[in-house]
Amino acid sequence: METNSTFGVLFICTLFSTLAVLPSCAQQGGGRGMPPEAREQIHTLFDNHASIRREVKFTADGYTAVTESDDPKVAAALKKHVGQMQTRLADGLSVRRWDPAFAEYCDHYTDMDHEFTPTAKGVRMTVKGRTANAVKIAQNHAKVVSAFAAHGWSEHDKKHDAVTR
Ligand code: HEM
Repeated sequence: METNSTFGVLFICTLFSTLAVLPSCAQQGGGRGMPPEAREQIHTLFDNHASIRREVKFTADGYTAVTESDDPKVAAALKKHVGQMQTRLADGLSVRRWDPAFAEYCDHYTDMDHEFTPTAKGVRMTVKGRTANAVKIAQNHAKVVSAFAAHGWSEHDKKHDAVTR
């Protein structure tokens, strides 16, 4: 009997300590801000948005986008930025938690498949949602990225609507 209750306590402790270290986007809001090397790429992209062209095609389960610049510095920033954001989200860290479209994107990140290919002048991204909501959220994120590219810094401080809340 005593062995059983000891086992029970051990089991519960193990369960809670495991849950505490699992990455959870929802819990990673304000604690760790964007590191300087990620901020640097984002600033380069906002500063040089006029040199960026972007073509987005919506598909039944998501979208494909090609985003490029003739300026090699901006093309390099695009590649670094997407890599940095992929790593950040895969680690369960959030971005722009105060912006509903990003909060929702982050929460549903694991419901999407991303195929990121560098191109000569930038990046190609294909995103497929595995749920109906993930498809809508991915497409909404593509629109926000397009607005960043089109308007630059004036878009930076705006909140963007979520599509499933
Ligand atoms: C505060 C600013 C920004 C944040 C927090 C941010 C965050 C993100 C995140 C989280 C992703 C998704 C990565 C993934 O799904 O694996 C992403 C992708 C991307 N971002 Fe940004 N981003 C910002 C600004 C910009 C700007 C200014 C541009 C260009 C003008 C840009 C261009 C892209 C592109 C091209 C992608 C690939 C996805 C696609 O093509 O639709 N981002 N960004």
